[in-house]
Amino acid sequence: MAPENSIEVEKLVREFPKGPRAVDEIDLRVEPGEIYGFLGPNGAGKSTTVLVLTTLLPPTSGTARVGGFDVVAEGPKVRGVIGAALQEVALDPLLTGRDHMRLQTMLHGLAKAQRRRRADELLERVGLTQAADRKVGGYSGGMKRRLDLALALVHGPSILFLDEPTTGLDPQSRSAMWDEVSRLARHEGVTVFLTTQYLEEADVLADRVGIIHHGRIVAEGSPSALKDEIGRPSVHVIPCDPDDRQRVGALLDRFGEPLAGEDDVAVRLREGVGLTDVVRALDGDGIAVEDIELRAPTLDDVFLAKTGRTLEGAAEEAVVELEPEPTAEATAG
Ligand SMILES: Nc1ncnc2c1ncn2[C@@H]1O[C@H](COP(=O)(O)OP(=O)(O)O)[C@@H](O)[C@H]1O
Ligand SMILES: [Mg+2]
Repeated sequence: MAPENSIEVEKLVREFPKGPRAVDEIDLRVEPGEIYGFLGPNGAGKSTTVLVLTTLLPPTSGTARVGGFDVVAEGPKVRGVIGAALQEVALDPLLTGRDHMRLQTMLHGLAKAQRRRRADELLERVGLTQAADRKVGGYSGGMKRRLDLALALVHGPSILFLDEPTTGLDPQSRSAMWDEVSRLARHEGVTVFLTTQYLEEADVLADRVGIIHHGRIVAEGSPSALKDEIGRPSVHVIPCDPDDRQRVGALLDRFGEPLAGEDDVAVRLREGVGLTDVVRALDGDGIAVEDIELRAPTLDDVFLAKTGRTLEGAAEEAVVELEPEPTAEATAG
């Protein structure tokens, strides 16, 4: 079979000896040239999945084919067609950006004559030309991520894995990264498997999204299809008097299912009722409101509908679960 730049995963499981089932029977398929967003809170199983798909960690069971090659039986072939920028990649603070590129081009066996040109071209593309001869120790977070990306592209991979490429970046660096990732997929036909904790990132960037929680894929589809599935908008109310929250909650109950709000009281509207119905009812009961808002469904609503938690809430829960620290098994290399 001719290798194509797709990813096919069936019933994939990865257990850690003393840890949880980090990846719990996931099925997924990423089409050639597609940007697939793997969205989930901390501890959901995103990095473990990426490590298995990039052949750095063997699966416990199930199968995964990347570029048409089996990750277990054909590891070297998989590694030949993929590029990866992983979360824990170690850049050497004492080397410059250009030094890193030189090492990477050597590692991938580029001919000497090509190395310099390829390095320059990629440094230019990720906007690091000016900083190329500075030590990486002085780079910002955004610059390091961009260098990671350039390093992952050295051998012209047809499938790219990016593990949380924008976590911790400022909005400007984040959108620069989005532009570059889109360009790779749209103009060069690179298949991108990208993990993220950010709803907006999945929404803006991904053609399709898989939402992962506790090692399971709880929802999959295009961002718009997922949101349409949730369908109905929600209404969020902040009463002027915080003591009114309970009354507002009871009133909203009449219009749909209550939502766990943080500082507001919220309801997912039932079919056939609208914002005006809620406003009228609040007026009728003489409840003064500081703010009332109608919100279209977001991917967080999808996450909430499937898991009963918000993404943020789930992340906090995961942090608690992480204590005490699980015994670390070597994950890379
Ligand atoms: N090497 C390891 N040994 C034991 N448990 C691990 C190891 N790596 C990850 N885990 C656990 O597997 C789960 C998924 O982790 P991970 O894939 O890193 O999640 P994410 O990347 O979504 O934050 C977590 O509960 C984590 O603690
Ligand atoms: Mg991770």
